[in-house]
Order: sequence, then structure tokens, then C-alpha cells
Amino acid sequence: MNYLPESAAFKLFEEAKVAAENTYSPYSGFPVGAAVLTKDGKIFCGTNIENASYSVTICAERIALGYAIASGNIQIKAIAIYSNTDSISPCGTCRQFIIEFGNDIVIIFRHEQELIQKTIHELLPFCFSKETMA
Ligand code: THU
Repeated sequence: MNYLPESAAFKLFEEAKVAAENTYSPYSGFPVGAAVLTKDGKIFCGTNIENASYSVTICAERIALGYAIASGNIQIKAIAIYSNTDSISPCGTCRQFIIEFGNDIVIIFRHEQELIQKTIHELLPFCFSKETMA
């Protein structure tokens, strides 16, 4: 598998935790941070950005990934997600958004005190993707 060494996964998770400090989440009061690691070692961070029109809210993962892509970095290795809860993993919309950029992207998140690594394909099997349309 493509999983990261534990220390690298933890480092990325810590970056996501710092990113959560910039949250704009006045409606949910639920800060989330995300950190994207590119294949050439760059890190791009994001946080959730909410809106008075609730459905316009954008999750931390999509902000971080959008930041990487918009900066010309499309080769994505891993994404870590942080929230101040026991367990968090990317929502369905974010899973679909992430898998666009590679089945093997490693998702790092905390689940009941443990740092878990799963590929996005493991989190979104039988997905609809550009391969579906090929
Ligand atoms: N949120 C994320 O940022 N990422 C997820 O994967 C799940 C949910 C945010 C959206 C909203 O601002 C808050 O968490 C509560 O749903």
C-alpha cells in the first residue's frame, strides 16, 4: 500500500490541527483542518469555511485540495483531516472531490484515539469517476 510512515502521517495530521485554528465556522462551532501532501513533498492547508446560507459551506478538505490544485500541484500523495473529536473522516462530497485526483491518495484521520490511514478508494468503493466515463 501507499500508506505513509507513522511519523510522516502524524506530522501531516499536526499540520491539519494547526490549520483548524483558522476555521470560519460560526454556525456549527465545529472547526476542521486539512493538510494536503503532494508527491514532491509540499504541504497545503485548509479549514472549513461556513456561510449564512448553510449549504454554501465548504469543507476543509476541499479548501486544502483546491489550494494545492490552484497552485499547480495536482500530484497528491495524502490528505490529513483534523477535528477536535474522537473520530472524523471526510464527508461523502469530499470523498468524491478527492478521488478525482487519484484512487491511491492516502487519507489520514483519527478514529477512537488511533491515527488511521486508508486510501480514498477504500473509503469510496464502486465510485463514479472519469474511468467510469472512459
Ligand atoms: N466539515 C469539514 O470541513 N469536513 C468534513 O469532512 C466534514 C464536515 C465541516 C463542514 C461544516 O463547517 C462543519 O464541519 C460541520 O458540518
